[in-house]
Amino acid sequence: MRVLTSPIIIASNHYHIMKTALAQVDLSALKHNLAQVKKLARRSKVMAVCKANGYGHGLVKVAQALDDADAFGVARIEEAHKLRSAGIIKTIVLLEGFFEAKDIASIAVNQFETVVHSEQQLRELEQAAALYKIDRPIKVWLKIDTGMSRLGIDLSQVESFISRLKACPCIHPEIILMTHLACADELGNDYNQYQLAQFQQASSAYSFAHSIANSAATMVLESARQDWVRPGIMLYGVSPIERETGQDRNLKPAMTLSSQLISVKTIKANTNVGYGSTWQSSQQTQLGVVAIGYGDGYPRHAKNGTPVLINGRIVPLVGRVSMDMITVDLGSDATDKIGDTAILWGEGLPIEKVAESADTIAYEILCQLTSRVRWVYN
Ligand SMILES: Cc1ncc(COP(=O)(O)O)c(C=O)c1O
Repeated sequence: MRVLTSPIIIASNHYHIMKTALAQVDLSALKHNLAQVKKLARRSKVMAVCKANGYGHGLVKVAQALDDADAFGVARIEEAHKLRSAGIIKTIVLLEGFFEAKDIASIAVNQFETVVHSEQQLRELEQAAALYKIDRPIKVWLKIDTGMSRLGIDLSQVESFISRLKACPCIHPEIILMTHLACADELGNDYNQYQLAQFQQASSAYSFAHSIANSAATMVLESARQDWVRPGIMLYGVSPIERETGQDRNLKPAMTLSSQLISVKTIKANTNVGYGSTWQSSQQTQLGVVAIGYGDGYPRHAKNGTPVLINGRIVPLVGRVSMDMITVDLGSDATDKIGDTAILWGEGLPIEKVAESADTIAYEILCQLTSRVRWVYN
């Protein structure tokens, strides 16, 4: 029997040259997309929303690339700490505020800004002010629920919240009034006008700064572009508007996800493909297997016909997505070879099309890539 003495080193070197699931993030695309935001919202400050690991692109790398933004928006205090630890000194806003009173001291020390959307948060700030001496007042973004019915105070509470915030010694006197729109991605939906009117009613008596717009509103609702805009998805090159792609809005995809063909073989007509035999070939064709699956975060519900870009042309995914592989119909005349690159989304293939074919949204599939994917930033 032969004894292998150094297989592990050979294997690990090999890893680096294998071209399986690879997410390439184009930092200049992020910058380009931020510049597009600024063109649209010339008079607004920009909070670049980079929660959920920068929509799956890498929190710190995204924030470093977007150094022209005026602030960063995150959803968890851990994300804010990660940014500060990486040396990001810009304003960081906790979009859902703090979840536990014990975080208030650290918000003050790290100069995070916090959304306040509930009576409980306000009470905890008042209690903190009574208990500790907070040297640096905390800036608050007061979130008003104008119709989303998720986070935010009612219109009827605005006056009392503002007077209590003003009276609270640990709160900065400059409050920002904000709301979030439920249907900004639906062009022409009257509910947007309703929410804007509600916000106007709630905020007009105060001279505080206002913030309403997410990406969709930044793109299409001029009256929502106020003192601050809060784009997320468009920074990553994706349009949230139905049946559009980022390209339609002059955005560039920040992420290209690719892998390689690991098998190409001829199959006869009427051959069943994949788990559950959900697809049969109608004629003889070349079936390609790409090394990507739901184990990498490729959406399992991607349907037959989901586009995959191979050697400059779109080919359809056929059969079910497996953990490590997908199958594609390369066509009977295909000349594709093992090792050829397959682009799952990004440059040349809008992620919006893939999301639509998987009955989901680009936001979700960007966020769900797994640790098996290799990342490259350029
Ligand atoms: C309060 C708030 N503002 C802005 C955004 C950014 O939204 P989008 O990625 O659609 O631009 C989000 C994201 O969900 C949010 O929760």
